[in-house]
Amino acid sequence: MSQHETFAFQSSEELLRKASELGIELPFQHDLSPLFEEISLGSKKIANRLAVQPMEGYDADPDGSPGDLTFRRYKRFAKGGCSLLWFEATSVDPDGRSNPRQLWLHRQSVDGFTRLVAETREEAHQNFGADRDIFCVLQLTHSGRYSKPEGKPQPHIAVANPFLDEKRDNLHILSDEELDRLQENFIDTALLAYRAGFDAVDLKACHGYVINELLAAFARQNSKYGGSFNNRVRFLEELVHKIRLEVPQIQIAVRMNAYDGIPFPYGFGSTKDEPVSIDLTEPKQVLLRLIEEGCSLINITAGIPYLKPHLGRPFDRPVKGSPIPPEHPLEGIFRLLSITADLQKEFPEIPMVGTGYSWLRQFFPNIGAAVLRNKKASFIGLGRSAFAYPEAPLDLKEKGKLDPKKVCISCSRCSEMMRMGGTAGCVMKDKEIYGEQYKKLLRERKKL
Ligand SMILES: Cc1cc2nc3c(=O)[nH]c(=O)nc-3n(C[C@H](O)[C@H](O)[C@H](O)COP(=O)(O)O)c2cc1C
Repeated sequence: MSQHETFAFQSSEELLRKASELGIELPFQHDLSPLFEEISLGSKKIANRLAVQPMEGYDADPDGSPGDLTFRRYKRFAKGGCSLLWFEATSVDPDGRSNPRQLWLHRQSVDGFTRLVAETREEAHQNFGADRDIFCVLQLTHSGRYSKPEGKPQPHIAVANPFLDEKRDNLHILSDEELDRLQENFIDTALLAYRAGFDAVDLKACHGYVINELLAAFARQNSKYGGSFNNRVRFLEELVHKIRLEVPQIQIAVRMNAYDGIPFPYGFGSTKDEPVSIDLTEPKQVLLRLIEEGCSLINITAGIPYLKPHLGRPFDRPVKGSPIPPEHPLEGIFRLLSITADLQKEFPEIPMVGTGYSWLRQFFPNIGAAVLRNKKASFIGLGRSAFAYPEAPLDLKEKGKLDPKKVCISCSRCSEMMRMGGTAGCVMKDKEIYGEQYKKLLRERKKL
């Protein structure tokens, strides 16, 4: 591992020189045409390989319906030109909300979601023509250990984890019966997502939330959901199977942590030896089961953001008060690219979305194009970069390059706003709204 550094590259040559100093073979090419190759997802043909990653904005109405800023966000993404929109983590259960303003889909809020999908599609039609299809995935989740339905932690966990539990006593461990009921909630919500007009639902299995936890529940005892591989994959595998049967019209996607970065027996995709490193044997077995059950789209990510945020989103500056990561951001990016490449190679017929591109700023398209050309992923997923610069795909198509003044600077303020319980967006490049909200949150924090 090398020392952390901030982004300071004026040219792609400087970036590639740094990568080679670090011993990293960073994929790179000047021809950006792979980003604009059509692809079919189910019955839809979409225009490009640029995807917006799911990112919570915490701006839902109290009943879980999308609020004004939610509408604004998705319309900006649609207008910016990404063809695959992966709508943010949406709770299937009021107790599993990560924040009182997290989206929550249920019978009374479904109309708001229906309008959100319709207006987002309409935005794409207005800007790119009536035949412009976008593919809309809704990420379904229960926040488990990170639930804060009323603003205060109310953890519901699958298994005790000494790396993640702040307190060791009075932990609410979800019983098998509670997990069975939760499965029903996911299925009911998938049906509502179909009625709202989404093309697919994602069963969120990443970042330490319940389904991810279950995959790593080696230490969960006396439970059909813990211990053996079959037991740990059961919840997710059955869920895919049941949704396929009960809501056959909707496609099923999974965003999966391929590597938690926590040692065995507490982390998924991890080796048994110290220091912890990657072992993709089980992630591959899980994907095989899911694909056999009918899952048709995969999004690969890594890390638990509350523990080692750099594993999933390499950055320049950590959230205030958090440590500087023990590695160079390019090492983190290369890890994400390599994991995704390995999994895509194993399942070449299943489209996979890669992540971790935002730190690369104006050079992400060059790396993304080379990743696509070499079939190391099928989509380039944009997280923070989409908050900062939603019209990046349009600029790339029209001007052939990005404006370095508009790119995400990976300052972590979007995550910081989330941690402070506020709405999340780009403080630096969407200042009018989020610059003001950030200042307000800081003032409120000072008063405490
Ligand atoms: C403010 C914020 C909210 C996020 N919300 C979600 C989410 O709802 N679901 C999810 O799977 N990942 C979420 N993520 C992670 C992103 O989808 C993405 O994996 C991460 O930011 C790395 O991609 P990037 O380098 O392009 O930003 C969030 C990240 C941020 C910064």
